[in-house]
Amino acid sequence: MPGQDQERMRACYIDRYGGPGQLRLGQRPRPQPGDGEALVRVAAVGLNPVDYKTRDGKVRILLPYPMPQILGNELCGEIMALGRNAAGFSVGQRVCTRVAKLSAGAFAEYAAVPTSMLAAVPDSVSDVDAAALPLAGLTAWQCLTEVLQLQPGQRVLIHAGAGGVGHIAVQLAHQMGAVVATTASPARFDFLRSLGASELVDYRQQRFEDCIAPVDAVLDTQGGDILLRSIAHTRRGGRVVTIGGLPTPEIADEFAKPFWVRWLFAWISRRERALARSREVTFRYWFMRPDGTQLAELISRVAAGQLNLRTQVFEGFDRFPEVFAALESGRTVGKLVVRLPRIG
Ligand SMILES: NC(=O)c1ccc[n+]([C@@H]2O[C@H](COP(=O)([O-])OP(=O)(O)OC[C@H]3O[C@@H](n4cnc5c(N)ncnc54)[C@H](OP(=O)(O)O)[C@@H]3O)[C@@H](O)[C@H]2O)c1
Repeated sequence: MPGQDQERMRACYIDRYGGPGQLRLGQRPRPQPGDGEALVRVAAVGLNPVDYKTRDGKVRILLPYPMPQILGNELCGEIMALGRNAAGFSVGQRVCTRVAKLSAGAFAEYAAVPTSMLAAVPDSVSDVDAAALPLAGLTAWQCLTEVLQLQPGQRVLIHAGAGGVGHIAVQLAHQMGAVVATTASPARFDFLRSLGASELVDYRQQRFEDCIAPVDAVLDTQGGDILLRSIAHTRRGGRVVTIGGLPTPEIADEFAKPFWVRWLFAWISRRERALARSREVTFRYWFMRPDGTQLAELISRVAAGQLNLRTQVFEGFDRFPEVFAALESGRTVGKLVVRLPRIG
């Protein structure tokens, strides 16, 4: 428990799960860097759908947070102090990170983060881009390289190409030499072509099965019927990953959950898994993980101009309720970022 005299800081937090009305802006104790951690003064933070899902309590079976809980999963800032055994970084360095899942806490003036999850930010990369990259960038990278194991010449379908994950995945898949098909509304088509998508489907008017040939791989962000139809439209021997559907049993193992959680996840994903088995398609849910080494690779691509981030920027803590509302509309393009006032 923090001591009475512990310094305080501004933060966006919840003290119980629930809807938009549960969002709090106020003072919380400033964290101290623990073993292997850096204390980062936060300059900018990115938002992701997991932030409102966390607020709602929808991920608590995997990530049960003690209350009050500071929200936020990715940030860019400057290292102010290092804990014991915190190697590889120095005070004053600009860094970005997808913070530890079990602590979250990016939406604050300061955050304590394991150095293994940090990447140094080159001078040529803005705070805003560095804050927008970690969660969506690592998700796209891990899905394409580790789960789908995408190869040059393969055809990949990326759902919601204009979203936070999608607009990064489209670029990475194109650079990997894949033929990229994606779903979006027509107003986003030019943007998506400029990122490397060659086949575009207006998901509001068309069924993707009617517009594009079967694919080798799918990155699904939607779950439900779209996921089932995606599995059905994948070639035998192909791979499908969902990040928006219901978790598959291996997620329970990866989070070291008890047997009943594994059973629950097996039950709720039974239709998708059965269809994938019958079609000889490899299928799983993926929950991205923080990884400083992979993040360093991605940020070097941003610095080299090979990976472009589309961002919409909001200024200051007071904007959080508005930014949450925008994100929850499900219609945003690229990433939403809040820049925090400079302190100290
Ligand atoms: N498991 C994980 O590790 C992980 C990691 C990151 C994200 N996720 C999940 O993945 C999902 C996507 O995340 P995100 O950050 O990319 O979301 P996002 O940025 O909020 O996605 C917004 C975009 O989705 C598009 N969209 C909405 N409905 C669509 C549909 N039926 N078909 C195609 N596009 C549609 C919208 O396009 P239009 O405006 O053109 O309609 C909009 O551009 C969320 O559910 C999120 O929680 C999971």
